[in-house]
Amino acid sequence: MCPSSLVLWLSLGALIECAAGSDWCYTGCAHSPTHWGDISSFCRGQRQSPIDIDTSHVQRDPNLLDFTFKNFSSQDVLKSITNNGHTVVCLLKDNEVEVSGGGLNGTYSTLQFHFHWGDTAHHPGSEHTIDKLRYPVEMHIVSLKKGLTKEQAVANPEGIAVLGFFLNATEDGNMTGPWGILTSYLMSNINTEIAINHSLSIDDLIGSVSRTKYYRYMGSLTTPNCSEAVVWTVFQEPININKNLIERFASITGLTNVYRPVQELNGRQVFASPEVSLPPSGPWCYDNHCIYNQSRWHLLSLSHCGGENQSPINIESKKAVLDKQLDAFTFTKFDDKHTIKYITNTGHAVKCVLKENTVEISGGGLGHVYSTLQFHFHWGSTVSKGSEHMVDSKRYSMEMHIVNKRKDLTLDEAVQTSNGLAVLGFFIEAESTKSSSGSGQTNPTPSPAADTGAWKKLTNYLSAIEDIDSKVNFTEEISIDDLLSSVSKTVYYRYNGSLTTPGCNEAVVWTVFKESIKVDQKLMMLFPTQMKYNNVYRAPQALQDRTVYTSAAASCLAPIMQFLLPACLFTIVSNLHI
Ligand SMILES: *[C@@H]1O[C@H](CO)[C@@H](O)[C@H](O)[C@H]1NC(C)=O
Ligand SMILES: *[C@@H]1O[C@H](CO)[C@@H](O)[C@H](O)[C@H]1NC(C)=O
Ligand SMILES: *[C@@H]1O[C@H](CO)[C@@H](O)[C@H](O)[C@H]1NC(C)=O
Ligand SMILES: *[C@@H]1O[C@H](CO)[C@@H](O)[C@H](O)[C@H]1NC(C)=O
Ligand SMILES: [Zn+2]
Ligand SMILES: [Zn+2]
Repeated sequence: MCPSSLVLWLSLGALIECAAGSDWCYTGCAHSPTHWGDISSFCRGQRQSPIDIDTSHVQRDPNLLDFTFKNFSSQDVLKSITNNGHTVVCLLKDNEVEVSGGGLNGTYSTLQFHFHWGDTAHHPGSEHTIDKLRYPVEMHIVSLKKGLTKEQAVANPEGIAVLGFFLNATEDGNMTGPWGILTSYLMSNINTEIAINHSLSIDDLIGSVSRTKYYRYMGSLTTPNCSEAVVWTVFQEPININKNLIERFASITGLTNVYRPVQELNGRQVFASPEVSLPPSGPWCYDNHCIYNQSRWHLLSLSHCGGENQSPINIESKKAVLDKQLDAFTFTKFDDKHTIKYITNTGHAVKCVLKENTVEISGGGLGHVYSTLQFHFHWGSTVSKGSEHMVDSKRYSMEMHIVNKRKDLTLDEAVQTSNGLAVLGFFIEAESTKSSSGSGQTNPTPSPAADTGAWKKLTNYLSAIEDIDSKVNFTEEISIDDLLSSVSKTVYYRYNGSLTTPGCNEAVVWTVFKESIKVDQKLMMLFPTQMKYNNVYRAPQALQDRTVYTSAAASCLAPIMQFLLPACLFTIVSNLHI
């Protein structure tokens, strides 16, 4: 029961399907995807499509530059639409539309485009997935290598180029634009070719989606006979269209879930064009519950975690070099009780995001004005400490990081600039050793420290953000100074380092304050217990040939044996000369 030769070519795979005289389907017949191999052994091959594109494993290819699209902008090349029982295919006029460039070897002549989708209950149905994310619909624009017959093309490893565009569903959006027109042609009658008489171009459909951001890999047709002849291009940005138009694909055609499940990569490499914005980090973790634990962060895409100037470090106080440029900071709005916008659980830390362009720091030898973006916390477990930096191999209970971005740079620029970020690190320690030991209920020791209220208010929010990615708007009146309490902000270490989480960009001027914030042990314990993850700190990194500097103002008159601390001696000497 082969359809007419016209319909045969609506779906490329149909050629062999008919030759083999067997039928296939996505669901509800003997030859559903897991049995396509019985129709054509190609479907059991080693370079099958679609695939999941794992962005943490893609490799950039500088040759993946601009495409040249011929007649994509012509409003006169869309010929007809047909529902072939597997999908809806839009045929183009012969020999009018072409694709070249984009790292393709030669020119490809575009024949048709068609769609893959899910069902009306909002089950998405794209074929490719990006980091396991499936979009509602995927459009395939199919082109054959110029000069090859169809039979030659399916037999050539690069005979067919398919451009894949995702369609994403938005709440609003134009119902009457290009996609309104195109979807008005959808029909349930099978194998009835309907002429398109609207002026509509392929560019109209693709809209503003970037054509320079795409993934590339070698694969196959996604329907039987699954010929391994396709150079795949999957565009990163989706085409956003109204969800009511998306629903039309399933509701009008009566076809649902017309997509093939993702196939094994079998060692294939997926490439990304230089313009693709890859996330700086994939799914990573500190411990061993995921593939990208600390020892493998350097393998993440765009990761700098294997660099020479990484953080945190173990600061050897005796080796710190005095730098008299390291003067006092100027803190703007650190005393303002209304600067925290919200608190969130990132899955790796608890982060307090500040109102934009409000809080600032300067001075402190930084040489630039920095905007304060957020602060967050690193902790250990209920039984172990979890600061990131160590001093003389001593780890503190917790560490607070106040993250600042150079005001004259965008965030993207800042993470690429060696002093684009300035992070202030404060150690946090138990307020009193007496109240920290008991596991049972001890009498709460009334705290002399004025900061107890602020820490209590802050940690009160933890129970509201137990779910990862949850966030709660901040309504309590707390200033950053309230949290820092009486810690001296003139006594600190300085070194050049990195972000302590992937991508570990070496863009951070670090300030690690010598005095620690004192917080009630019971409040600190709320971090590991309420967030349900432990030991969120990175191990110390090699100093390599970096120098750690120390500010001149010393807090080292109290400790005995000060003569062993050269930094203090310098301070004393230099103070004598002032
Ligand atoms: C396709 O483009 C060519 C020029 O590249 C043009 O002459 C021709 O008219 C176009 N065809 C259509 C149908 O727009
Ligand atoms: C490009 O295609 C031509 C012919 O179509 C082929 O001879 C050549 O080997 C291909 N080059 C690459 C790099 O694949
Ligand atoms: C997809 O659409 C949703 C709204 O429905 C939007 O929030 C999301 O940002 C879109 N995704 C992309 C990648 O544009
Ligand atoms: C950080 O690096 C910059 C540029 O390489 C250098 O001028 C500066 O002295 C370094 N600062 C520290 C604290 O090492
Ligand atoms: Zn397809
Ligand atoms: Zn941090």
